[in-house]
Parts: sequence; structure tokens; C-alpha cells
Amino acid sequence: MTIPVSILWNQDQLTILNQQKLPHVIEYIHLDTIEAVFDAIISLKVRGAPAIGITAAYGLAIGASQFSAEKLEDFQQELHEQYIYLAGSRPTAVNLFWALERLMKKAETAKTVEEAKAILLAEAIAIHKEDEEHCRKIGEYALSVLGDYRNVMTICNAGSIATAKYGTALAPFHLGAEIGKEFHVYACETRPVFQGSRLTVWELQQSGVEVTLITDGMAAHTIQAKGVQAIIAGADRIAANGDSANKIGTLGLAILAKAFKIPFYIAAPSSTFDLNLADGTQIPIEERDEKEITHIGESRIAPEGTLVYNPAFDVTPNEYITGIITEKGIIYPDYQKNIHNTLGEQIG
Ligand code: MRU
Repeated sequence: MTIPVSILWNQDQLTILNQQKLPHVIEYIHLDTIEAVFDAIISLKVRGAPAIGITAAYGLAIGASQFSAEKLEDFQQELHEQYIYLAGSRPTAVNLFWALERLMKKAETAKTVEEAKAILLAEAIAIHKEDEEHCRKIGEYALSVLGDYRNVMTICNAGSIATAKYGTALAPFHLGAEIGKEFHVYACETRPVFQGSRLTVWELQQSGVEVTLITDGMAAHTIQAKGVQAIIAGADRIAANGDSANKIGTLGLAILAKAFKIPFYIAAPSSTFDLNLADGTQIPIEERDEKEITHIGESRIAPEGTLVYNPAFDVTPNEYITGIITEKGIIYPDYQKNIHNTLGEQIG
């Protein structure tokens, strides 16, 4: 049983698992240009907040390695343009901007073009490595809060393939499998693009975790009928007061958790917090192509001319969240105060 990984940096080459093709085809593809990285992010070949950040960081480093500028000033100008370009790929996951800004800041310290190129790549590798360590810690903390629970529900894929390794919301299940702690995971299929059925079910099967697939509309009944004991989800951006954006459908699960009096946890690394935003109303919500809803694959499932609203994310207000599990520990209400105390110095 193995925990799948989706991003590899090997012999100066970036390789990703093409998540668009899962679960039917396991295809690893090379991304050799910044344009290929942009396309991979926008088309969901790589997706999940931390994975987007890591891939974008490599993308900027790859792009910069191909600049022809000889003067540092010209190099920095081109770097800025490419940073703006990559930052335009997806709007909600703050890890994208966090990773790119981290590289831009480091590049400012370079004294030569060659040094800048080396610094950018080293920083991308550091972000990649740190994310794996952070996800493992999140998994350990999550295991401790889930205690003896067996039946746990999740949505989307906040898994190993959405990060460097282990995942956030799925990390406790992978670590549990390693130590013989058995979970039964209820995975919401996650309309419209099925990250739950295509990715989470596949990923958990790879590491030997028991998983049952349900459609999103079955969540309430499943909690009631199957004795779901907790819900855990990832996040794309968490505001300073704990309001958390995640895949569309997460808010509904949080409301259900409150109604059924079971805990609802968000699991995310510190790179997913945006302390510049006071609350979740300021989080930009991506709206995607209506075809994701009117079609399944190439088959149309709604009449021509159907009006469509397709927000990719929703925001769960902090009062629905039992705790936010980070690599620095578990943050409980009062979120405003405790997020600042736990993360403020690093990020604020
Ligand atoms: O549109 P996606 O597939 O990129 O959305 C991903 C999610 O909503 C994840 O839950 C989130 O990014 C956390 S990944 C550890």
C-alpha cells in the first residue's frame, strides 16, 4: 500500500500526476515551461491549495531559468511579469500567491542573474519539502483529535495528491493506515468535477483506507444512518477570524455537523491563512465554466440555454468550525485571538 504523490522534482525536471485523467489513467507529465504550468493549474491537472502553490513556485523558477536577460534589472522586470501571469491562474487558494510572493522576496536578495535563478529554484524546493513536513504534522494532530472515531466524512480531495504528501484532511487516514488505526471514510463525490469520487476514493484505496462513496445530496442521511462521528475538510483560504473557504459543498456539511452535534474540523497548513483578510466575505470565490455543470464529460445533462451558477468554493463561517488543525497545533475559538497568537508572527 502506498500513499500517492503528485509532484516530483527530479534531475532538474518538474513532473506532475495528471489529476484530470484519474482514476482511469495514471499519467505523469513533465512541465517544462511556465505556460505549461499555468495550463496545468487552470485546467486542474494539478489542484488543491498546497499543490497549486508548490507547482507555481517551480513554474516561476523554470520560467526564470529560461530568461535571456543578462542585466539583473531586466531579469527582475521579466520575473515580475511572469509572477503576475502565474498569479492569474486561479483566484481562491491563497497558497498560490503565498508561494509566488515568497519566491519574489527571495529573488530581491540576488546580486546576479545566475544567483537569482539558483535562489528561485532553491526556494521552490524548500516550499515543496516543508509542505510534506507540515502535512505529516497536521496528520498527527488530526489523529489525536479524531481519537477513537471510526466513521468520518470528507469532501473534495484534501489529500496527498493535493499537497506535497499525506494531504491535510486525508492525512490522518493515511497515517492511521500506517499504524493500524482503522477509519471508515465517507467521501462526498463533490460535484461538479468529482474530486471526491475520482481522486479521494482512488487515493485512499492506494493506501488501504476503507472508503465509501456517496453523492453530495446523501450527506445528511448518511450522517444519520451510518453514525458519522466527525467531518474533516481542507481549505483554500482562511481569513484572520477563521472563516474558511473550501470546495463548494463544505458549508453545507458544516451546517449539518452543527445540526447533528458532531465536530467539524478544517485541516490546513499555515500557508493557507490570509491574515490580510478580516473575514471570509473578502475571500474571492472562483466561478468556473458552466460546462462543468451542464455536461458530464462530453455528454450534455441539462437543456440548451440552461442558466448556470458555478462557484467552485464556499465559505464556512467560523462559528461552524470546531477546530482548525495546522502544523503548528490545533486552533480553537476564539479564532480571532488564537489564530493571531499561533500564526501572527509568521504571516501577519
Ligand atoms: O478546485 P480544487 O480541486 O483545487 O479545490 C480543492 C479544495 O477545495 C481542497 O479541499 C483544498 O484546496 C485543500 S487541498 C489540501
